[in-house]
Amino acid sequence: MNFTEDQKRFLEQWMDFLKIPSVSADPKYTKDVKAGAEWVKSALQKAGCPQTEIIPTPGHPIVYGEYLLDSSLPTVLVYGHYDVQPADPIELWDSPPFEPVIKTTQIHPDGAVFARGSCDDKGQMFMHIKAFEVMLENGSLACNIKFMIEGEEEVGSDNLEDFVKSNKEKLACDIILISDTGMIAQDQPSITTGLRGLSYMEVTVTGPNRDLHSGLYGGSVQNPINVLCEMISQLRDIDKKVTIPGFYDNVIELSKKERDEMEKAPLDLEEFKGSIGIDAVAGEKGYTSEERRSIRPTLDVNGIWGGYIGEGAKTVIPSKSHAKISMRLVPNQDWHEISKQFSDYFKSIAPDGVKVDVKTHHGGYAYVTPIETKSYKAAHNAYLETFGVAPIPKRGGGSIPIVPMFEKELGVKSILMGFGLDSDAIHSPNEHYGLFNFFKGIETIPKFYKNYAKLWNQD
Ligand code: BES
Ligand code: MN
Ligand code: MN
Repeated sequence: MNFTEDQKRFLEQWMDFLKIPSVSADPKYTKDVKAGAEWVKSALQKAGCPQTEIIPTPGHPIVYGEYLLDSSLPTVLVYGHYDVQPADPIELWDSPPFEPVIKTTQIHPDGAVFARGSCDDKGQMFMHIKAFEVMLENGSLACNIKFMIEGEEEVGSDNLEDFVKSNKEKLACDIILISDTGMIAQDQPSITTGLRGLSYMEVTVTGPNRDLHSGLYGGSVQNPINVLCEMISQLRDIDKKVTIPGFYDNVIELSKKERDEMEKAPLDLEEFKGSIGIDAVAGEKGYTSEERRSIRPTLDVNGIWGGYIGEGAKTVIPSKSHAKISMRLVPNQDWHEISKQFSDYFKSIAPDGVKVDVKTHHGGYAYVTPIETKSYKAAHNAYLETFGVAPIPKRGGGSIPIVPMFEKELGVKSILMGFGLDSDAIHSPNEHYGLFNFFKGIETIPKFYKNYAKLWNQD
């Protein structure tokens, strides 16, 4: 790949950005998260958006910028996040997570940048700043732009929610544009038309009031870890359906036509299994793998701990055991209700001899967007122009809880133009983002603005 001078500069800046460990979940990095916000502010200003500010919140700051051309033009609000997931487990990275390097892979023969946040979402968000710079430079900017880049997406966007609720006028816009999702393959773009909701719980099972000798007491009292495992195993049945009463009550089944439509972009199962090193897929009976990971709700244990996990062996019955359990939800499921149902059910299946505590961490609603809108068409045509292939609409399995919140509070839909691949290892060790994807994004985004402004004036 031969880079232009501009591309070289964009790449350098992006790699510079990736050196900042803006991990929102860990208070150890609070200063770095702030530095991330400052970096974004300065990048926006350098790109040509002088009206940019850092808005402090009780948590991490929000970066807001606007470039308003003319009130008769449509306004696009760009949303993204500069915070990243923790790098753990750090020992599984081939190169340090905050020292970005370019390496080639089979999927990325032109190279990919390896670093935490390279794709999710620093790389994808930065494409928008550079696309804006390009449009300003060649005089093609056809819409008003507002940027709202937050630092708490990976921890639930709580403070952004409050900011949106109290700044509706400032954030008024016609469409929200986001690159924080993926696409099917390098030669097959897709537009994400749905996101799942989420309900994230933590449970603690307490047995005896102290850790006990497992010989003196074992067999005569409840072991909180054994109990936790037994309880977790009751949360799904043999068909991998969630057993919590009421869990599926509000789930809307897709019509046969919609499911047939999904089948048109089938998942290559062999490739899917190979890419993550498994020899068999699993999931809810009666659904395809693609359906299981997008249009169906799920329940998964994210972490489980307790007892002795140090070197060697220790004979002990622990006093406590813990697990983090999350449920991905689909449209029409209310995450508050689901959290309550989980809590009630989990407590109801606790045996005598233990005490159970259930806590809700955070959650969010699912999201769907229609494809008959001007904004969807503008995105569709943008991909068609730059990839030479029509993008496929596709429901995604991940969650961006702020997206349904934007719809509720601002009454505005979001267009999810993601350029990442599932294999980019977001949230995992060795996260990376392809140079092809990065530059294709910078090329495709301006086409969206052009097409959207054009369609805006048509009835
Ligand atoms: N960008 C992801 C969400 C995503 C990735 C959606 C790929 C679709 C395709 C986002 O940063 C994320 O990780 N969201 C969290 C939820 C949040 C509340 C922590 C998630 O989905 O686990
Ligand atoms: Mn993200
Ligand atoms: Mn993420």
